[in-house]
Amino acid sequence: MQKDMEQILFSEQEIKDCVSRLAGEINRDYAGKEPLVVGILQGSFVFLADLVRQITLPIRVEFMSVSSYGSGTESSGSLNIRLDLAEDIAGRDVILVEDILDSGNTLSRLIPSLQERGPASLKLCVLLDKPDRRVKEVSVDYLGYSIPDAFVVGYGLDYDQKYRNLPYVGILKPEVYSK
Ligand code: PRP
Repeated sequence: MQKDMEQILFSEQEIKDCVSRLAGEINRDYAGKEPLVVGILQGSFVFLADLVRQITLPIRVEFMSVSSYGSGTESSGSLNIRLDLAEDIAGRDVILVEDILDSGNTLSRLIPSLQERGPASLKLCVLLDKPDRRVKEVSVDYLGYSIPDAFVVGYGLDYDQKYRNLPYVGILKPEVYSK
């Protein structure tokens, strides 16, 4: 898979340090609380798995699946909840975990729909943000890295469902996705 990379953007060690920093912020901000950490499938599963192991609070973990990208590179206009939360989040402190914020279409629809369920608080933790691609405004509470508009894969991020298992974040060679 490494031959398909133009560049390694963040190494395994850099990501590890970044995840420790984010978990430290969460541990500090939620001291004495029992937040519900919600991973948005599928891309967040690697980030979430590392993040929760650095969180020292008595958290609960759940997942949601919402549709945006297909096998192409653009997100679709509408949000479809494919897998919903099992727990009622009314009165809970919820932390949403995403691998990447791109156009903002997914989160700008998901966040208001979760707010309607009456959580005590709802914050967003995102590993990668591509601000140049933003169409809908989304405010991030815990951010790993702001990145340029490049096609990134690895550490949970895919192209056509591949590369999610790379331990680093890399930029894909254009020839791979323009084939
Ligand atoms: C990615 C990511 C976000 C969304 C962000 O998911 O995990 O959910 O795209 O893009 P947006 O800001 O333009 O809405 P994707 O739909 O690729 O699915 P995946 O997590 O299964 O890879």
